[in-house]
Amino acid sequence: MTETVTVREVGLRDGLQMVGAVLDTDRKIEWCRREAAAGVAAIEATSFVPPKLLPQFADAGLVAHAALRIEGLETSALVPNLKGAQRAIDAGLRKIDFVLSASNEHNLRNVRRTTDASLDDFRQIVASRNDGGRRDVALGAGVATAFGCTIEGRVAPARVLAIVEALLEAGADAITIADTVGYANPAQVRALLRDVLALAGSRPVTCHFHDTRGLGLANVCAALEAGVRAFDASLAGLGGCPFAPHATGNIDTEDCVFLLESMGFDTGIDIEQLLALRRDVETWLPGEAFAGAIARAGLPKHFSRAASRVSPVFHEGIL
Ligand code: COA
Ligand code: ZN
Repeated sequence: MTETVTVREVGLRDGLQMVGAVLDTDRKIEWCRREAAAGVAAIEATSFVPPKLLPQFADAGLVAHAALRIEGLETSALVPNLKGAQRAIDAGLRKIDFVLSASNEHNLRNVRRTTDASLDDFRQIVASRNDGGRRDVALGAGVATAFGCTIEGRVAPARVLAIVEALLEAGADAITIADTVGYANPAQVRALLRDVLALAGSRPVTCHFHDTRGLGLANVCAALEAGVRAFDASLAGLGGCPFAPHATGNIDTEDCVFLLESMGFDTGIDIEQLLALRRDVETWLPGEAFAGAIARAGLPKHFSRAASRVSPVFHEGIL
């Protein structure tokens, strides 16, 4: 049996939050549609942040509304606080991703409050959803700077685990562990994610890696070994946090899908269609830096999707 791995596209959120020029709403919607057509099953389509702070997301409601109508696509959005969560629920979203940072200093810069205050915000979001009779809305919680921080430096794994525990206790339906500034290495990922998965039990865990120091896909392999089966990635490797010094792009979606499919994991995604979309996105965002090895070098001649292979899966021998 071929195992399935979910790759969630976050280029429209993590990618665009670093892009100065505001991309047209219609293009964002086309981006979502073409991701879905390529087989991408999950997308973080936008961010419910103050438009004054990040004008790129002034159209969050419109993008969410359009993405929600695309068949087969699980649409989610980032929210930094209660107001963002209420806007996202009003827009019709059934999956919301709250974010806080394990690094207190990064949390202060990113959302202007301490990590503890953000934990309280999350408890308020859960209460507001429940009081509003909206338990059908899944509340994910992401821990940013989980492997280190460009402001504070080292972030203790015990602190990350305590935050994960607090989020689960508060009612998080899913957990994301994020290497916001690309500090993680595979040994660290394997160790931390084993512990996070043990805490999370049946609640899904996603890894969100940035490739700032070139270890993004190595970290994906380490997380796979630990048992993670869901990853965030960004088309053309766009991305980064505007409130973390020296942050750069996420792991590249096309390369991540190539890695997974080559190893025998079924992502459901057609890389050729992603590459065609990427070529258009490059023309929509002139002057941006685009990463990605498959876009540069092409797929190997013998490449085939994991699901189409008759031969046994490769990853059993590797992991
Ligand atoms: N959406 C829209 N408007 C919002 C909002 C939201 N999610 N949250 C707050 N606001 C509005 C408030 O209503 C208020 O408006 P007013 O000036 O017209 O009264 C204003 O923004 C300030 O609100 P306040 O609660 O004081 O927020 P703040 O200035 O302390 O900023 C955050 C806190 C969390 C809203 C802001 O730091 C933020 O959005 N950070 C996210 C950063 C990010 O996206 N990082 C990258 C992803 S990890
Ligand atoms: Zn990120």
